[in-house]
Amino acid sequence: MANYPELAGRVAVITGAAQGIGAATARAFAQQGTHVALLDIDGAGAKKVADAIAGDKARAVAIHVDVTDETSVERAVAAVAAEFGGLDVLINCAGGYGRLATVEDMPIEEWDRTIALNLRSVFLVSRAAIPHLKRSKAGRIINVSSITGRQVTVASSPAYGSAKAGVIQLTRFLAQQLGPDGITSNAIAPITTLTPRVAALRTEADIERIASLVPLRRLAEPEDHAQAMLFLASDAAAYINGVTLDVNGGRIMM
Ligand SMILES: NC(=O)c1ccc[n+]([C@@H]2O[C@H](COP(=O)([O-])OP(=O)(O)OC[C@H]3O[C@@H](n4cnc5c(N)ncnc54)[C@H](O)[C@@H]3O)[C@@H](O)[C@H]2O)c1
Repeated sequence: MANYPELAGRVAVITGAAQGIGAATARAFAQQGTHVALLDIDGAGAKKVADAIAGDKARAVAIHVDVTDETSVERAVAAVAAEFGGLDVLINCAGGYGRLATVEDMPIEEWDRTIALNLRSVFLVSRAAIPHLKRSKAGRIINVSSITGRQVTVASSPAYGSAKAGVIQLTRFLAQQLGPDGITSNAIAPITTLTPRVAALRTEADIERIASLVPLRRLAEPEDHAQAMLFLASDAAAYINGVTLDVNGGRIMM
């Protein structure tokens, strides 16, 4: 794993950190000595991960949040600031969708729920974090979009893909508006990733078929995304602002 000594002692908030990419990212930052706050609607799951990664180098706390709810988000971000005395890195990772769908068969409740989880959440958590990030010497916002927000390639959910495209544009607005405060805002766009959840949903044949379409001939591991986010949070990425980094093995090339 790459080593970024400057990340030691900084404070990172990771939403959706009870499992999958968020949990791997919390682990990767803690290994750099970054103090981590794991925010998730699954408070018990987040606590389990936090307890496992807390160590001599870094503190780790779990905080319950519903990223779609304004009051819950305000409370959770205030709790992080009170616990650590500030905030340097925000990773908006909570997201997802329930099922493959078409526009024609999508009830409005599903549309609204999916947009709220994937786009409203990024707005709410970023807005709550901005005053704290402005006080950081190296403020960073990193949003987790998706290959489905970049291009329509595989069966997915139109609400999810539209929200993830919205995340990319919101990232650019954040980059433009917070740049003068020394805060960078970037996104990553992961391909299908072998999280325990995805591995359980897909057959071996599915995984082989998807992997055969990727020039690197494998799906992503959660750690591939964690590495990209460590880089974007590091001083090495200080002048990178408003980009979306495709972490997709070359599956699509923008
Ligand atoms: N896994 C993939 O193949 C893949 C591909 C592209 C993009 N992504 C994106 O990466 C991110 C992480 O994906 P993953 O597969 O690791 O997800 P996951 O489903 O494994 O984990 C998502 C986490 O978010 C939490 N969460 C759900 N609703 C929440 C809410 N309202 N408030 C707070 N927390 C909530 C869940 O409890 C869970 O811990 C998501 O934004 C997803 O859209 C994933």
